[in-house]
Amino acid sequence: MHRLTWNDDPVSPPPPRVIDAQRALADAVERLARPRVLVPTMGALHAGHLDLVDKAASVGGSVIVSVFVNPLQFGPNEDFDAYPRHLAGDLEALAGRGVDLVYAPTGRDMYPLGAPRVTVQPGPAGSAYEGKVRPGHFAGVLTVVAKLLLRTRADIAVFGRKDAQQVALVRQMVADLDLPVELVVVPTRRDPDGLALSSRNAYLTAAQRSQALALPAALSAAASAAADAVPLDAVKAAGLEVLGKAGGIEVDYFDIVRPDDFQAFGAEDWGQGLAIGAIRVGTTRLIDNWPIGIVGKEG
Ligand code: PAF
Repeated sequence: MHRLTWNDDPVSPPPPRVIDAQRALADAVERLARPRVLVPTMGALHAGHLDLVDKAASVGGSVIVSVFVNPLQFGPNEDFDAYPRHLAGDLEALAGRGVDLVYAPTGRDMYPLGAPRVTVQPGPAGSAYEGKVRPGHFAGVLTVVAKLLLRTRADIAVFGRKDAQQVALVRQMVADLDLPVELVVVPTRRDPDGLALSSRNAYLTAAQRSQALALPAALSAAASAAADAVPLDAVKAAGLEVLGKAGGIEVDYFDIVRPDDFQAFGAEDWGQGLAIGAIRVGTTRLIDNWPIGIVGKEG
């Protein structure tokens, strides 16, 4: 009788190759077809991450997914220890999706000399919103993203639009430091009820999950107000009203910003904006954003 193996079982494609050390990675990337497309993640992969991977695979070069919960981007009272880690499940999710290799380094492999003394500082766009609530967060993100780009020698890197401030800052880093990489940004994946997918949704109880829906509802209210061409203040007020009426949440911020530099829209500004918000539901912090067009004072 013929026994099925990884290679001939049509329902279980093999998981991608995993590399956990910088040196082995350097050898492996050398042999990958160009363009090398990197999808940087912290694991706990959900359908939103898989959209990024599918986008990377559609380019037609080779695909590297990094899985690393980066201690440098977590504050001392944040969820670094609790952050979900499921490498086996991640590999299963990536099987059959055209991923050439997964780089899942240890902390020591990523930071062999301990916490780096030289880091990438995010500049002015990194000190508001997420950067204000989470001091040091973006220096941690940019430092590890720079290291991942260099280690994988990525030609293209794919990011999710849900972390819009991160995207803006990575874009600035790439431009300011002449990093030879092209960025591709993929729209946010949402559950049917509107909640943006996030690895942190796993922390929510059923009741908290329905309270969390206030965030996409607020963004959508702001977008509808903007579509009615009301002034900026009224657009913001529409979103804040939804958040104000919601129970069980605390609002870290809600604002309308310019997507490229995360400066708040002023009364005189118009054009493409981004409604952004961050809330806490219990101990879980969630962020989300929604593109909106703001008409000028003249309408
Ligand atoms: O967006 C994330 O998951 C992380 O911030 C990233 C880009 C993988 C860096 O650790």
